[in-house]
Amino acid sequence: MEKQYRAAVVGLTGIGARRPPAGSGGLRRPMGRSHVSCYVEHPRTEMAAVCDLREEALDEFRETWPDLPEVAIHTDFGELLAKERPDIVSVVTGDHVHADLTVAAAESGARAVFCEKPIATTLEDADRMIAACERNGVLLSVDHTRRWAPAFWEAQRMVASGALGAVRTLSVEHYGPRAMMFRNGTHLIDLLCFFSGAEPRWVTAKLEPGFDHFDRYRGDGGKDPAQDPYASALIGFQDDIRATYNAYKTEFNAGILTVTCDRGRLEFHNEYGRLLTSSSDGGRREVRSAALHPGDYRYAHQLGAIDELVGALDDGGPLVSPGTDARWTLEILLGVLASQRNGHNRVDLPLPRTGA
Ligand SMILES: NC(=O)c1ccc[n+]([C@@H]2O[C@H](COP(=O)([O-])OP(=O)(O)OC[C@H]3O[C@@H](n4cnc5c(N)ncnc54)[C@H](O)[C@@H]3O)[C@@H](O)[C@H]2O)c1
Repeated sequence: MEKQYRAAVVGLTGIGARRPPAGSGGLRRPMGRSHVSCYVEHPRTEMAAVCDLREEALDEFRETWPDLPEVAIHTDFGELLAKERPDIVSVVTGDHVHADLTVAAAESGARAVFCEKPIATTLEDADRMIAACERNGVLLSVDHTRRWAPAFWEAQRMVASGALGAVRTLSVEHYGPRAMMFRNGTHLIDLLCFFSGAEPRWVTAKLEPGFDHFDRYRGDGGKDPAQDPYASALIGFQDDIRATYNAYKTEFNAGILTVTCDRGRLEFHNEYGRLLTSSSDGGRREVRSAALHPGDYRYAHQLGAIDELVGALDDGGPLVSPGTDARWTLEILLGVLASQRNGHNRVDLPLPRTGA
């Protein structure tokens, strides 16, 4: 029998441990599944242990998952690592705690960490995480979930193959009552990094009015839209690739991505996309969308991320959302704050290290 990887989840709120409603399985189900449910569902992983500081969270876990009586329950993460020896650890706590828990997992003998986004609240923390994982030969995957959405994944492969020519400009627009830069905007800014495949070089930005005091991200979990601003930013990547991020807290919900290349343009509304290209006999545009709705994926979103980790643990291979890419996204988020502090002027990346 193939090896079963033992999984542990630390942080048991909804995204950590919610149980999807019965009958909601299948590739196309909307986001909203949890780390625990994905480990339960994946045939090569077994839930070995969970951890949360709060007894209420542990009680809720027992009530939600009465069919998992064998899962070890801990309040002390260090104790969990020492006693349960998980192979894969999901870090699903508030963002300011990701670093300490990821480093502890990497040094415990675990072989992979699947960490929630954004990777951390400071670049110093992100660097500690990446270094600890590299030092210990541990895979580090960050849950910028859209990277495992089949349509985005397929489209990114098309762009990276060069089939559309060089990437020139990108844009994301982010609307909704919860269009908060750190909580949700991180997913969309990450798409800019994913599709450009390039290092960010500078940022010019403006935050939501009333957020001049917001000079540092504290990683408080982002529950309250009043505590996390919307923003607009112009972002320069290497090779003069230019991108815009534009968000506003509206009643209307949308996430829109465009990627314009020399020979074509991708347009996505949420995860539904189309490709515009020039025909060979003139300026007429043709639209193809079928290729952007691939049907042969076994798993998507977090389950896709876990499937990818299982494959990489078995056979090696690159990850779709490694810690190093998530660090680029964090650098842009922090660059937005730095530009706001500078009167919306251009801020060059990499940012100077604070030593904090
Ligand atoms: N990928 C997605 O679509 C998505 C969606 C929602 C949230 N998230 C991310 O998930 C993470 C959790 O978000 P949240 O809003 O549930 O956070 P939260 O702060 O509300 O809850 C995190 C849980 O972690 C526990 N915890 C904190 N420190 C701990 C420690 N040292 N040991 C054990 N348990 C500890 C807390 O008690 C709490 O139950 C964040 O990084 C967030 O950005 C991602």
